[in-house]
Amino acid sequence: MRSAINAQIREELDSAYLYLGLSAYMDGLNLRGCAHWLRMQWQEEIQHALKFLDFLLQRNCEVELKALAAPAFSAKTPLEIFELVLAHECHITACIHELYALAVVEHDYASQTLLQWFITEQLEEEQSARDIIDDLRLAGDSGASLLLLDRELAARQAED
Ligand code: FEO
Repeated sequence: MRSAINAQIREELDSAYLYLGLSAYMDGLNLRGCAHWLRMQWQEEIQHALKFLDFLLQRNCEVELKALAAPAFSAKTPLEIFELVLAHECHITACIHELYALAVVEHDYASQTLLQWFITEQLEEEQSARDIIDDLRLAGDSGASLLLLDRELAARQAED
């Protein structure tokens, strides 16, 4: 379980790094609201990594930080970018479910409690990405609608 949680810390930091890259890319398209939303997401992923890291420390387990790869993506349009976000979140959900299954096999009740928080969080993360994708599909080629959505995404606040 310790090793699997260490691997998950890297997954969360990888997510953060990917979202930071996507945020910078969106800023380059002058979609500052999308860039802001992705930067907030970057911040959340760092918090997720810390949640796992603090859990290991609390249990007196060794933390092994692993190397991160540079984020690489071929997505270009806002729709493609948020489809990538959703696909990435689905991947993270699968990782969390695998961790939970392992915690059940190992009768690790403390990990199960922690992971239940993440299971709920993943539902929200996938839903947020899906909502933005739906809005982008509705906007289609309308620059005005895209601008409106961009302004909406600029309002995202950091979570406590
Ligand atoms: Fe930490 Fe977006 O999953």
